[in-house]
Amino acid sequence: MSAANEIDPRVFPATARRGRSCGQLKLGGIRATELIERFGSPLYVVDEQVARDRARAIREALQGEFRRIGTEAAVYYAGKAFFCVEVARWMAEEGLGVDVASGGELAVALAAGVDPARIGFHGNNKSEAEIARAVVAGVGTLIIDSEQEIERIAAAAAAAGRRQRVRLRINSGVHAGTHDFLATSHEDQKFGLPMDRAMEVVGRIAAHESLDFVGLHCHIGSQIFATDGFRESARRLIGLYGELAEALGGPVPELNLGGGFGIAYTSAQADEAPDIASVARELADIVAEGCAEAGIPLPRLAFEPGRSIIGPAGVTLYTVGTTKAVALAGTDAVNADAGWAERLYVSVDGGMSDNARPALYGADYQVRIANRASDAAPALVRVVGKHCESGDIVVQRDVIPGDVAPGDLLAVAATGAYCWSLSSNYNYVPRPPVVAVRDGEARLIVRGETEDELLARSVIPD
Ligand code: LLP
Repeated sequence: MSAANEIDPRVFPATARRGRSCGQLKLGGIRATELIERFGSPLYVVDEQVARDRARAIREALQGEFRRIGTEAAVYYAGKAFFCVEVARWMAEEGLGVDVASGGELAVALAAGVDPARIGFHGNNKSEAEIARAVVAGVGTLIIDSEQEIERIAAAAAAAGRRQRVRLRINSGVHAGTHDFLATSHEDQKFGLPMDRAMEVVGRIAAHESLDFVGLHCHIGSQIFATDGFRESARRLIGLYGELAEALGGPVPELNLGGGFGIAYTSAQADEAPDIASVARELADIVAEGCAEAGIPLPRLAFEPGRSIIGPAGVTLYTVGTTKAVALAGTDAVNADAGWAERLYVSVDGGMSDNARPALYGADYQVRIANRASDAAPALVRVVGKHCESGDIVVQRDVIPGDVAPGDLLAVAATGAYCWSLSSNYNYVPRPPVVAVRDGEARLIVRGETEDELLARSVIPD
């Protein structure tokens, strides 16, 4: 079978493969055509086994490495990547806590029966109602993201008769991208407080009887491949821990380094994507060295990965509606497309409403024909959606069999994170359902929307 048919296990869920006789893509042991017949198109598919295995592997790698250096690590799943009651339950069962960023995400975690003590609550503008709800529910940690929040959380905790554990989010001045990181003394963004405010603000937190300051938090970015950014950020925070220990009269017990571990969206990226075991080892070494240098005891660690757990577990299935060949000669096609005479635009029944990432971030994805393998000569394709925007692109460029035609099913890999969660109803397109597959079984975990439901939101005058 040619590369244009290949299901790369470094990009597609680890259990995805083509059936030997039918040539069809099978997800969790189920044929793509069967999934579409049962649940409709387009369809988000999440491989439960892969999501659970990744959650457990990441938790065990981090906990193992931090145990090696003599401390502990807690792992929280960042629900913003993709959250519903079922996924929250999987994460709790795999021994992870959950990080929520709104009252809505908190409601999902609580509905799933996640132990409130294992929930962290983030947000740069939590409402008073959200804060009160979190405190009353017994949420383990609230992450303070502004000076105003100190008094708000302290008052809510006092009113509830609780001593609320809190972390302070610090803007370490480190911002990591996929391949590089940028370290400045200040970073121009909305999250956290600058390093030079930390001493005073922690003092203010510590003065409240109803607050229990447990440590600093820092999240340096997302889709990170190199560990340099974590190194610099940890070094800066650990430096502060030395000063804080003196001021507070004892060591700061915990340090949360956030999430952000990158994944491979394409086979080309797969050669560079970090493996979690070596990232965990490096992170533990970075923290051990930093604490030794600063002469402070090791804090307990916490991490909040989202994408690296759920991203590779997801695939979106679409049905092809139309195709259109566009000549590239005389266009401003980029170098990577040199040598191709034309680009085949393949339009599917979804688009930027179910995956906004290419439009928002110029994100790359990989696509394969899902309902069959084909020996046809490969073609340069761009998979586009059905929305009224030329930026409505699902896959910028890939090479698949050139006989792709209306009625074919396409599978776009690694859509588990930040696709459903960033989805919209642009052009009144209903959101697709989410189906979990595992061991040859498929079940609905998030219902799709119907046009009637969307229409019902319009207020129709009598
Ligand atoms: N913790 C905090 C405080 C965060 O802000 C985030 C992500 C995470 C953890 C999880 O990061 P992850 O491990 O998933 O990279 N919509 C963008 C990503 C936004 C990330 C926002 N914060 C995207 O689709 O690439």
